[in-house]
Amino acid sequence: MISQSTFVDLCEQELRLCALSPGENFVVLSQGDERAEYVDAFMAAAQRLGASPMNLRLPYSSSASAGDVGVWTVGNTPLKGNRAAVDVLKAADMVVETLFLLFSAELTEIQQAGTRILTCIEPVDVLARLFPTAELRRRTDVATELLSEARTLRFTNAAGTDVTYRIGYPVKAQYGFVDAPGGWDHWPSGGMVITGGADDGVDGRVVVAPGDILLPFKRYVQAPLEFTIEAGRITEIRGGVEADLVRQYMADFDDPDAYGISHIGWGLDERAKWSALGTDQRGHGMELRAFAGNVLFSTGPNELFGGPNHTSCHLDIPMRNCSLFLDDRPVIVDGEIAVDAMRAGGVPVGV
Ligand SMILES: [Fe+2]
Repeated sequence: MISQSTFVDLCEQELRLCALSPGENFVVLSQGDERAEYVDAFMAAAQRLGASPMNLRLPYSSSASAGDVGVWTVGNTPLKGNRAAVDVLKAADMVVETLFLLFSAELTEIQQAGTRILTCIEPVDVLARLFPTAELRRRTDVATELLSEARTLRFTNAAGTDVTYRIGYPVKAQYGFVDAPGGWDHWPSGGMVITGGADDGVDGRVVVAPGDILLPFKRYVQAPLEFTIEAGRITEIRGGVEADLVRQYMADFDDPDAYGISHIGWGLDERAKWSALGTDQRGHGMELRAFAGNVLFSTGPNELFGGPNHTSCHLDIPMRNCSLFLDDRPVIVDGEIAVDAMRAGGVPVGV
């Protein structure tokens, strides 16, 4: 168990990475009684750095943040319709949010006002163990450059996956801290890059293999689960009990956009463990999205990139042992990162 004083130290290190400066306006956003210790730790850390902290606390109305209870929907948060609260956040220099605002229109609006935003919802020991590093950021920058230059992304696995994305949106990198105006990141992110296919530009099939991870269900897949994708839409879901579960889960949203394709990318953090879910069901599962060499396939909204799909139905599916190609260049081969400068201890940028 990490003590509250150690947590304050961690938050101070994190806010230093985020370049929080004396005199900056700093807001911690929370809901109900959730994560009161996070609010206190961040405000104490911000005070140490000479910033002006405050806590904006909203009534509890979203189960998106916990990830371990209720329906895990994205984009609908307690900020929806609360104009005064959005304005407070837009006026801040930096916000730490504990709700999970990703895929919400409000997050985009706040970023566009120049506020930098950090999401922080994971258990404290996970925050400590996967603390951001400059080295991981360097490797993430390499991945960002490679992905930014690509026009197509294709990935395969031995279970039968063969799907191609005609890249249609800018690359987003996450490395666990945010130091630029208007930026967003999530502590921890473990080094990951994502982009999106053009709205009608994803075709093929994705066969999720046993051992791959279904989020937000937090389970290892037991039997192959096959998505058929045509022109950026899921047209068929086949397989065992997980296929039934996914098919019904999506249908229950009663939203055609639930069948869209969301972000695609890969993780780089060798500290993050694929096996973590075997013993730890807490939190949002960032460790599972971040482990080195996983291909993170996801369905649903592309709001994140400025796309038109705003559905609340979002699945993240970290997949092992895949091969991923950018314009036919192998970047990940059978789950191993194939570019030295993206590997731990790899060659520095530009060499
Ligand atoms: Fe996602």
